[in-house]
Amino acid sequence: MHTKILQSWQIEEAVTLLKNSQLVALPTETVYGLAADAKDERAIHKIFTAKGRPSDHPLIVHIEHINHIYDWVDDISENAKKLAKHFWPGPLTMIFHKKKSTSNLITGGLDTIALRVPNNLITLEIIKKLGHGIAAPSANFHKKTSPTKLEHVLKTLNGRIAAVIDGGPSSIGIESTILDMTKEVPIILRPGSISAQMIENALKIKIKSFDKHSEKVSGNMEIHYQPEKPLYLVSKSEIENILKKKMNAGIVFHSNILHFSSDNIYKMPSDKSEYTKSLYSILHQMDSKEIDSIFVEKPPLVSDWNDVNDRLQKASQKYVNFNMFIEQEKFNN
Ligand code: TXA
Ligand code: MG
Repeated sequence: MHTKILQSWQIEEAVTLLKNSQLVALPTETVYGLAADAKDERAIHKIFTAKGRPSDHPLIVHIEHINHIYDWVDDISENAKKLAKHFWPGPLTMIFHKKKSTSNLITGGLDTIALRVPNNLITLEIIKKLGHGIAAPSANFHKKTSPTKLEHVLKTLNGRIAAVIDGGPSSIGIESTILDMTKEVPIILRPGSISAQMIENALKIKIKSFDKHSEKVSGNMEIHYQPEKPLYLVSKSEIENILKKKMNAGIVFHSNILHFSSDNIYKMPSDKSEYTKSLYSILHQMDSKEIDSIFVEKPPLVSDWNDVNDRLQKASQKYVNFNMFIEQEKFNN
């Protein structure tokens, strides 16, 4: 299959493809999504095939406006209404009990459904013209690093989908916060740029974070978001050690460390949102280099950085003893 590259003004073409049960990758403010018409089971089925994703792994339905919640859900709580008004369009996905008529294919057999209004004008216009929601997971092969640019989508899905729309780089760069609204107290299942603090400020109640219950929920998978090259999370002093050893590795750090500039060494912005915005792009860039591994300095362990820490931990290899590991690497080189 030839994957067409569409420009932002070719919205009609994207809508026609979606109406014809085809898959189109679209920009959102978080990461690019792989869209199918959410009312078309044949198209939704193609998402699982194109991504190599298990069919019991539920999808997020992206809607154009709060009012469309009721296409998928019978009723929502006052808290959910508040959050939708406060954060939509934006990087918050909420989970509700689904309507009986909602397809089990979208929900991976669960009786709940994930909904979000994305904050991207191209994608909102497409949803509006299509007339109902789109089901859209991140536009990458299962468990791999999410795409924040057109070329990242093509890296794993070229030839597997009908088209991708170029909407430029995603402005946030990390997947949405997932909040389970089916319990009395909301639970964050996946941290994102909308923090627990921001949700608590909007609701004026305490919420919970991540409760391990099912493999199908992305927050519960131990391995995810992985680049092709093995990624190791290391401390600042370990980064300094690696720099001295001149290993054939990619190095990504954010602290002030004296270093010789090289193509394989990348100093991240210290501002959190700028860091988030460039993280996946840097990991994709590192993946395309002739290096053996990628070392990333552990981000600050503070609640503001929960989303970044969550993704990097899932993207990284687990090793037992770092010193033994780099001695081994040195020996191999
Ligand atoms: O920012 C985002 O959320 C991006 C953009 C494209 O909107 N989408 C995204 O989709 O990250 P995906 O499929 O890669 O990750 C969404 C996660 C799934 O892994 C799934 O575990 C969880 O949302 N999810 C979906 N429906 C759920 C449900 N009913 N209950 C619990 N978790 C659910
Ligand atoms: Mg994903």
